[in-house]
Amino acid sequence: MEKLIVEGGKPLYGEVRVSGAKNAALPLIAATLLAPGVHVLKNVPDLRDTRTILSLLKELGAMWRRDGDTLFIDCTDIVYDDVSYDLVKTMRASVLVLGPLLGRLGRARVSLPGGCAIGERPINFHIRGFERFGVTCRLEQGYVEAAIDGRMHGATVYFDIPSVTGTENILMASVLAEGTTVIKNAAREPEVGNLIDMLVGMGASIEGRGSSQLTVQGVETLRPTTTEIIPDRIEAGTYLIAAAAAGGEVTVNRCCPEHLPALLEKLTEAGAEVVVADGSVTLRFDPQQRRLLRGVDIKTMPYPGYPTDLQAQFMALMTLSSGICVIRETIFENRFMHVAELRRMGADIRTEGSNAVVAGRGPNGLSGARVMATDLRASSSLVIAGLAAANRTEISRIYHLERGYEDLVGKLTGLGASVWKEQE
Ligand code: EPU
Repeated sequence: MEKLIVEGGKPLYGEVRVSGAKNAALPLIAATLLAPGVHVLKNVPDLRDTRTILSLLKELGAMWRRDGDTLFIDCTDIVYDDVSYDLVKTMRASVLVLGPLLGRLGRARVSLPGGCAIGERPINFHIRGFERFGVTCRLEQGYVEAAIDGRMHGATVYFDIPSVTGTENILMASVLAEGTTVIKNAAREPEVGNLIDMLVGMGASIEGRGSSQLTVQGVETLRPTTTEIIPDRIEAGTYLIAAAAAGGEVTVNRCCPEHLPALLEKLTEAGAEVVVADGSVTLRFDPQQRRLLRGVDIKTMPYPGYPTDLQAQFMALMTLSSGICVIRETIFENRFMHVAELRRMGADIRTEGSNAVVAGRGPNGLSGARVMATDLRASSSLVIAGLAAANRTEISRIYHLERGYEDLVGKLTGLGASVWKEQE
């Protein structure tokens, strides 16, 4: 296994190019199952998670090839097969093939994911939605077996909480269902919008993009199309927070600033200079003035609220502030695994339930330590802490980082950081 070494205390300067969004690439790759023929996806990040979903598609009979960041996926011959626990346990988003397989084959057998490092993460909303379409769902030996005779019929599906992959799965099932589907309290994340654009390009009829109510008129067949994956807002946000933590001036290129409303506001409130241009954001924080970093409260919310996927990174930043801040995690019940690791680096953080109180220790408040990555975003918060800390930080279990950050070491090195991988 590899570990990541970070020699901290160096400001970051330069430009970094954002990759395609992991959480858009995964549902869009799954959506190719809906139509026979060759689909083209552009700006696809080469990550552990995208490779996992591609191997899953291959098991289902699809063929694909990659040319740079463009993927050609041929879904002409799709076969009915299990999506095994081995796949689902490495990547929960594997459940995203349920909707398209039901649309294309009328049946699917996918392992039920267990809990994970950030919470229980059930898929009951997905199942309830499929049942509304007339699908019978049974749980057999840890697998969800979903099947319908003939075509699904459209229905009204209401989400208790706006679930991102839930909305995507129901959307992908509904486009081939007979009649009208109305999805209420749908997730409004930009990744859902990216999927809607692809489905519309394939011939689907969907109204309400960007709103919490989506109306779908089912069609009988879909055709392959070409779609570009949107830039990864979480990756972009991670580099901006890293620049604020280490000090310096970083321009994040090929991103969509409009997808980061809450973060840009919070970084400005904290005292960073944020300059938005068309397709880029520049963050400046004079390294000599880092003691002016203010404590700023955040509360994670569905989009366009503050994203849970940038909570851990912002917490790392706040440990360096000269104030107190309260971080409320409202999406996942167990997303504070990074707290214990940040404490090992000298952070003063107290948690109670879904609240964390961070007492900032100023710009020199962290010192390097050996820490453990527990999930993807917790890992990136440790990298940020390491960049700002005195001395050396060693982060083990970095395979988590490889699930979601393309060429993290190369991109940080390009900004002047001292970061490299070593064998454990
Ligand atoms: N929920 C249920 N039942 C369901 C589905 C969701 O109770 O059937 C609950 C969840 O437990 C959670 C809330 O609803 O409390 C919202 O979860 P959501 O379903 O939106 O999460 P997800 O779709 O499983 C996606 C991202 C996550 C991101 C969340 C929230 C993908 C592949 N994953 O997960 O990304 O944190 O939305 O924005 O899109 C990451 O990239 O590190 C990551 C975890």
